[in-house]
Amino acid sequence: MDFKLDKAHQLQQELFRSFAETEIRPIAKEMDENEALDLDMLKKAAKYGLFGIPYSKEYGGAGSDTLAYTLCMEEISKVDASTGVTISVHTSLCCSCINNFGTEEQKQTYLRPLVDGSKFGCFGLTETNAGSDVQGAQTTAVKDGDDWIINGSKIFTTNSGFADTCILFALTDRTVPASKGLTAFIVDLKNTPGITVSDNIERMGIRAASNCIVTYENVRVTPDRVLGPLGKGFKIAMTALDTGRIGIAAQALGIAQGALNEAIKYGKERKQFGKPINAFQNTQFKMAELQTKIDAARLMVWRAACAEDNHEPYGPLAAMAKLMASDVANQVTRECVQFMGGYGYCREYPVERMMRDAKITEIYEGTSEVMKMVISGSMKLK
Ligand code: CAA
Repeated sequence: MDFKLDKAHQLQQELFRSFAETEIRPIAKEMDENEALDLDMLKKAAKYGLFGIPYSKEYGGAGSDTLAYTLCMEEISKVDASTGVTISVHTSLCCSCINNFGTEEQKQTYLRPLVDGSKFGCFGLTETNAGSDVQGAQTTAVKDGDDWIINGSKIFTTNSGFADTCILFALTDRTVPASKGLTAFIVDLKNTPGITVSDNIERMGIRAASNCIVTYENVRVTPDRVLGPLGKGFKIAMTALDTGRIGIAAQALGIAQGALNEAIKYGKERKQFGKPINAFQNTQFKMAELQTKIDAARLMVWRAACAEDNHEPYGPLAAMAKLMASDVANQVTRECVQFMGGYGYCREYPVERMMRDAKITEIYEGTSEVMKMVISGSMKLK
């Protein structure tokens, strides 16, 4: 067992860090205030290969692995969690579905432009009345000749404001439970009549990320856009979420480490009672505690990523990593705001944004309560 990154992963980590520092840090505050990502920056990130890290070079990806992808998520989210989730949803929710369940033709046609970064992807699963309870989905796809006609609406679809490709889940059989009646489709969001994308939903955190309601009204899709077998949509979604949760855990880790780094920097300069506040033992003990929690979360994230890379079962490990890292992100960001006092609460410093951003990591891609369902379900308690 080796807890150190090998040379190749260290180099990738440096590349991700350098991109985050030079291209994202200077605009992170502005993107949050404008509630919009800088699309030029995203295109640059795509050129750097950040949108296809774990995918084969055969399809235009970087040919790396899930561990490298978590390093990217951590480094980017240290600086800006909105950019983090954008990469995450594209990579693990959208691309993984096609990579794992697509035909060779679908991979060439739809996966290639996603992993080489020329197109952006999203994932349409959640509905107004089907959040944690995915089986409550109501969107339907009804056969018309060879084609399918889709009707329904999806909410909280990250990236949908600018994405080209959506993995959409719709019921193709209403006579069976949704776990057997949902089917996945690859939908062209920009060029298909009947699709409406709302304005960005106003949110507390990750405000720069795109997150909209997508409505499908008599949307016709051809049979070549069915992804995987009919009725296997629930399992396709769950498989994508298993890997997606590793990405969100790494995002939470990045938010936590980013906030702690900011607090340490501040505490070296801020003087109270005649000395820098980092010189107080109370501060030193607090920093030690927070870094220990972050390191524990990091080991769990890496464990889940390595399990996926080694083709071992990783769903419950991903859920544990997300449960732990999202809790740590919320604790750490709250403590960092508290440590920096009035300045921590001001928009001038990034920790207040990080505290707002951290909250969602306990909610999306499965709430902490859903993570406990997944973990306890793997424990043979009955
Ligand atoms: N992989 C493969 N199959 C799985 C699976 C997995 N991880 N989890 C369950 N299944 C299978 C089960 O084995 C079962 O199969 P059989 O019927 O053949 O036995 C079937 O799926 C149904 O399983 P359950 O009875 O356990 O399903 P459930 O209805 O009780 O739901 C759940 C389980 C864990 C709560 C699931 O619904 C879930 O994960 N909910 C959370 C959804 C979620 O994370 N949503 C986030 C959406 S994306 C997002 O956040 C927005 C964004 O863009 C960031």
